[in-house]
Amino acid sequence: MKNMDKESLSKAYRLFESGDIDTIEVGTLMGSQQLHKYLFDGLLALAGKIRTNNISKGGFRFATALYLTEALEKVEQMPEANFEEIVAKYVEMNIVHPFMEGNGRAMRIWLDLILKKQLKQVVNWQFVDKTHYLQAMERSPINDLELSTLLGSNLTNHISDHEIVFKGIDQSYYYEGYEKGSDEE
Ligand SMILES: Nc1ncnc2c1ncn2[C@@H]1O[C@H](COP(=O)(O)OP(=O)(O)O)[C@@H](O)[C@H]1O
Ligand SMILES: [Mg+2]
Repeated sequence: MKNMDKESLSKAYRLFESGDIDTIEVGTLMGSQQLHKYLFDGLLALAGKIRTNNISKGGFRFATALYLTEALEKVEQMPEANFEEIVAKYVEMNIVHPFMEGNGRAMRIWLDLILKKQLKQVVNWQFVDKTHYLQAMERSPINDLELSTLLGSNLTNHISDHEIVFKGIDQSYYYEGYEKGSDEE
């Protein structure tokens, strides 16, 4: 798993370094699949593919696999006119959890693409505490206020700042248990 995460992290860097990020559809199911495929191609058998099994985490059961296509179409159509709507859309996308693995990492980039397009802002993830974020995500299907406050207080206008982008990617992988340099001698 560790090596896979390390390779995926390199792919995430390349997504931004190469400018390929600008070819990803914003706010759509297709966009989430493009991101997932990009980050996990050759690493996950189902890279970019919608799951057909049911999954749960921490006692929370994500959307039923049988109705995933319908659920995803609904999410895609949700408005993104302001920050609150964008957070609500992100929360719903997380509830759908379209992939078997890699939802967290793919969807944080998916969220940033919407924020960038609609508000000319992104989340400055390096300052979003891991425990706080994961707690807010667990809480979000019931109430998204905590998440909205946490992300809302960490928005930045510096959407092209190299350090903000790359430290943000590192932080996103850290949330999922991967620490850069931890497996190097
Ligand atoms: N109990 C939960 N309820 C809702 N969302 C959760 C819960 N636990 C984790 N999450 C969300 O799911 C993400 C992890 O999904 P996962 O598919 O494992 O992605 P990755 O492989 O990138 O870690 C977390 O980053 C968080 O956003
Ligand atoms: Mg995971």
